[in-house]
Amino acid sequence: MLKVKIAVFVSGGGTNLQALIDAQKAGIIESGEIKLVVSSNPEAYALTRAENAGIKTVICSRKELGDEFEEKINEALVENGIELIVLAGFMSILSPGFTKKHENRIINVHPALIPSFCGKGFYGLKVHEAALEYGVKVTGATVHYVNEVPDGGRIIMQKAVEVKEGDTPEVLQKRVMEEAEWKILPKATELVCKKIIDERK
Ligand code: GAR
Repeated sequence: MLKVKIAVFVSGGGTNLQALIDAQKAGIIESGEIKLVVSSNPEAYALTRAENAGIKTVICSRKELGDEFEEKINEALVENGIELIVLAGFMSILSPGFTKKHENRIINVHPALIPSFCGKGFYGLKVHEAALEYGVKVTGATVHYVNEVPDGGRIIMQKAVEVKEGDTPEVLQKRVMEEAEWKILPKATELVCKKIIDERK
């Protein structure tokens, strides 16, 4: 069985990338293999995590590349034979042209239970700040397909996480990561890889 070649897109700390790398080692991801890490930020610690795991990296910064940003990404994807893109804390919104070109081949992890606290402007800590401000008692994480609507694609997997009295955005973010994101992102990645392999037959 030819494994699905995966590219993980990152911008920051890369704890979700680490969860994917660890899941691959543990055999939770067995139908795919992480071949490439694309970072929008040259300073991202995620790049160090990729290098430590022996994974090829490429930096594509929208600031530096402007209009050629997605062109450069597409070149790297073709060069490495990538079949699935996993957005793991990738902070650049991809154009409708890009998402259409890779329809059903891009998934994303979002740190809330979509359709709550999602869409334009809801990323990273801001999501948890909004959840606390609203006063929800349950939040969580969602893995979904990526289409032209920010956080609007079909849901693949979700996991709920309790909000506790006295939570700060940072404390809540950590709990959502540990209890939900780092678990469902690898599982959903395996699920989608399996699906891609089945479709090859
Ligand atoms: C994660 O919580 C991820 O869900 C979120 O950014 C964080 C990245 O952390 N993504 C979004 O908010 C996308 N809308 P990481 O770099 O440690 O994986």
